[in-house]
Amino acid sequence: MSKRIRKAVFPVAGLGTRFLPATKAVPKEMLTVVDRPVVQHVVDEAREAGIEHFIFVTGRGKGAIEDHFDMAYELEDTLRRRNKSKEYEALMSDLPAAGATSFTRQQAPLGLGHAVWCARDIIGDEPFAVLLPDMITLPARGKSARCLAEAVAAYEKHGGNIIAVEEVKPEETHQYGIVARGKDYGATFEITGMVEKPPQGTAPSNFIISGRYILEPEIFALLEKHEKGAGGEIQLTDAMIHLAKTRPFHAVRFDGRTYDTGSKLGFLVANVAFGLARPDVAEGLRAELKKMLD
Ligand code: UTP
Repeated sequence: MSKRIRKAVFPVAGLGTRFLPATKAVPKEMLTVVDRPVVQHVVDEAREAGIEHFIFVTGRGKGAIEDHFDMAYELEDTLRRRNKSKEYEALMSDLPAAGATSFTRQQAPLGLGHAVWCARDIIGDEPFAVLLPDMITLPARGKSARCLAEAVAAYEKHGGNIIAVEEVKPEETHQYGIVARGKDYGATFEITGMVEKPPQGTAPSNFIISGRYILEPEIFALLEKHEKGAGGEIQLTDAMIHLAKTRPFHAVRFDGRTYDTGSKLGFLVANVAFGLARPDVAEGLRAELKKMLD
């Protein structure tokens, strides 16, 4: 039987150069989509998937993320004294339980694979989730499961390692990690190969690795080698390619949409999509958009 997925890694040590100057003094994970920081949306998704321990791999200038997941005594006291009980309750329900968060530093941004490796001692010897905190997901209309919940369901079915994927246009594949498709089970398929940022026209499929993973702890021994890949960075995809030689990998096709808030366009589109999914602002936003486009 598969082990339960209890722990998740959130690598938040990247520099966010695509979003300068906004990210000069503010971590990109703290930019807001509607009224929640991007990283809070991702933690919400992990909680819904049953994650109990939240591990943040941080870097210099990322202190605001740690503060966001801590108590804010003065603010909470002020809200209570002013009888703002709705706002107070909302803050308290977002607060992770005491001891349910860990923060470790990636001393230099050497790549996503290196960031995940920095969490090895906190993870220990159990399968775990990785969520890229600048990628946020919304379920398809009428569905409620976000991407990590679907990945956990796929893990319960297949065991081994799971990668969430999404289809893109063939001319976009060179920007992403790409998987090759083997036996197809409908919502999931066997992964027979992976490649990071293949040159245009050489990708084995249109399925990109979209930012949610369930990995076996054997990945750490491979990441330990610190081999550099695309862009001179220690890539998670390269370690997964090695692990796939001995362990099964399956893809889960997420039934919804992923927004890359680390890019300007992705961030703007995410705000519109999440706004339209929020009952308190959807109607007003739709009317404003209509006015702008008419
Ligand atoms: P990205 O490449 O999207 O993030 O990495 P970045 O480097 O911050 O962005 P740009 O390209 O400069 O704008 C994917 C995720 O991996 C994390 C990032 O924080 C992001 O969430 N990451 C990346 C690390 O934690 N450490 C690294 O060394 C690299």
